[in-house]
Amino acid sequence: MKFDVLTLFPEQIKTNICESITGRAVKKGVISLNAVNIRDFCTNSYGKIDDTVYGGGTGLLIYSEPVYNCWKSLFEKEEDRPYTVYVSPKGSVLNQKKAIELSKKKRVCIICGHYEGIDSRVIDTICDEEISIGDYVLTGGELAACVIIDSVSRMIDGVLPNEDAFTNESHMGGVLEAPSYTMPSNWNGMAVPDVLLSGNDAAIEEHRRIASLVETWVKRPDMLDKIEVTESEWQKMLAMRRTL
Ligand code: ADE
Repeated sequence: MKFDVLTLFPEQIKTNICESITGRAVKKGVISLNAVNIRDFCTNSYGKIDDTVYGGGTGLLIYSEPVYNCWKSLFEKEEDRPYTVYVSPKGSVLNQKKAIELSKKKRVCIICGHYEGIDSRVIDTICDEEISIGDYVLTGGELAACVIIDSVSRMIDGVLPNEDAFTNESHMGGVLEAPSYTMPSNWNGMAVPDVLLSGNDAAIEEHRRIASLVETWVKRPDMLDKIEVTESEWQKMLAMRRTL
């Protein structure tokens, strides 16, 4: 999977992504990262990238032309055109389903705005989709681009040690992951549920399934509205919750 990021701050992207798990994936060549500086595509000699907004208002807006030229420089043939995303607080909010969808693309280009953003005409011309990482406003799109790259990368083959690492976790299947524990089995008077020490795989799996439903019920009850919970599961959840 290839990521291109069009930004005024390529180092911010590289510093974030070329660390830890995503950094190793870049080194192994499982993902590639091409962070390009929009400023290098300025059409004026003095490197001016932005101007005031027509109609008034505060802040500066990045011109269409350098963004368009930067994006066009990524590919020659139409078939190599990357799936192009503009990150902005106006986009649809990123979730696990969207991250999975993006992980199936061969090449994703993320365009980051700064200041007041980018002239809307170039966004309408080249972007397939606008994505936000939450209902709040950041100073620029760079952190949002990194969040998208991170959440998408971890679902690409070879990034995590095995597929289990991302299939059995929160937001996959519409529920949160069950609580997890490590040594010691009793810490500060809090004991790990006996079943997890039993070695009985079937019982452990059943415990985790119900514990995951309880976790969701306690922390994100809104998520339970979107999945089917049977009467028998509710009974087991109630029983487990009474023991907490
Ligand atoms: N740029 C500024 N705020 C943003 C947000 N919430 N999501 C994505 N990009 C942004």
